[in-house]
Amino acid sequence: MVDQTMPTRVPRKLIVTGGAGFIGANFVHHWCQTYPGDRVVVLDALTYAGNRSNLASLEGKANLRFVEGDICDRVLVDELLQTEAIDTLVHFAAESHVDRSILGPAAFVQTNVVGTFTLLEAFRQHWLGADQPDHYRFHHVSTDEVYGSLEMDDPAFNEKTPYAPNSPYSASKAGSDHLVRAYFHTYGMPTLITNCSNNYGPYHFPEKLIPLMCINILMGKPLPVYGDGQNVRDWLYVGDHCSAIDTVVHRGTPGETYNIGGNNEVKNIDLVQMLCELMNELAPDLPVRPAQNLITFVKDRPGHDRRYAIDATKIRTELGWTPAETVEGGLRRTVEWFLHHQEWWQPLLSEEYQAYYRQVYA
Ligand code: NAD
Ligand code: TYD
Repeated sequence: MVDQTMPTRVPRKLIVTGGAGFIGANFVHHWCQTYPGDRVVVLDALTYAGNRSNLASLEGKANLRFVEGDICDRVLVDELLQTEAIDTLVHFAAESHVDRSILGPAAFVQTNVVGTFTLLEAFRQHWLGADQPDHYRFHHVSTDEVYGSLEMDDPAFNEKTPYAPNSPYSASKAGSDHLVRAYFHTYGMPTLITNCSNNYGPYHFPEKLIPLMCINILMGKPLPVYGDGQNVRDWLYVGDHCSAIDTVVHRGTPGETYNIGGNNEVKNIDLVQMLCELMNELAPDLPVRPAQNLITFVKDRPGHDRRYAIDATKIRTELGWTPAETVEGGLRRTVEWFLHHQEWWQPLLSEEYQAYYRQVYA
């Protein structure tokens, strides 16, 4: 099939790990819409954070295949790379929540470090036997949290900022980044790394700040703000993260790292206030109005990083990527999405989730 969207482009055969999670699913939607002639194989273990319904509207498409499986399963990964003649691996699969990494770090080391190593080894073997190895790409999706915490007047993280991870989550992501980097330097494997700031948008699992606040406002439950609420995050709409990864896969230089961010630094308490305002405006029958009455300051997260901020100059100047969404516009879209997709998030508030919630917020 000829790809009409980009006539000179060589089609790709992708494996997307973690494609049933929040960002991975948004990315699969983005790729299937943008490059309908490409083959996309999703490999996802469907942990508590994986949700096949995130891909429901794509089910039945001939070019999309879903495989339930673990990235640590070398035999399965080898088989998929070979039988599907994969040339591009985009790696989202991870344990991704800082609070869970504090409660139980082992799963983070297993998936984020051992899983990434398994993929690297399998891809290296596959790439070595390739007819057109120059077309191959191993894209590793990482986080700005590997750089540690900034003071309020520090410059934003750039690609040369030393790594200083502070949580088991960020330490395990840092470990995986180092392995990916080493596979380029040692073996010449065409790897790419992106380190992105906090994402938000559709299909965001309820445990994270923005969906948690949206859902608790709709249910009339307290809005737990950690510590003094002055911590700063640099928020990026998930669609912009997907377009940035698309840009790096096509135009990034192998072996390079690119930081991705929206230049949208917001204090947690201000973000929660904005969500309350949007819900007051958009939700017709809130149990508690104004929603601000639900704001509750709770015990701080151990080792809570104070501030993250991304300097995205490199991807902007070298590859021409810029975000399309403002934080005001993106938050409005997100609040509307959670308002109109209660059937998506209600089933996720399972007994397992309630037990987790009690452990963190008790
Ligand atoms: P998520 O927790 O929503 O989804 C992770 C997905 O990976 C789930 O579908 C899960 O089932 C799958 N998975 C977990 N372990 C697996 C395993 N062993 N084998 C196969 N699949 C497995 O995470 P997310 O928020 O979508 O994040 C995706 C990636 O982006 C992660 O690597 C994360 O570190 C990175 N990242 C996230 C953010 C953010 O704000 N959420 C920001 C920057 C980078
Ligand atoms: P989170 O969405 O967990 O992302 P990360 O820790 O990876 O940045 O949290 C975003 C910020 O919101 C972070 O500073 C912790 C804070 N937070 C709360 O204040 N209350 C909450 O219930 C949660 C989940 C997070």
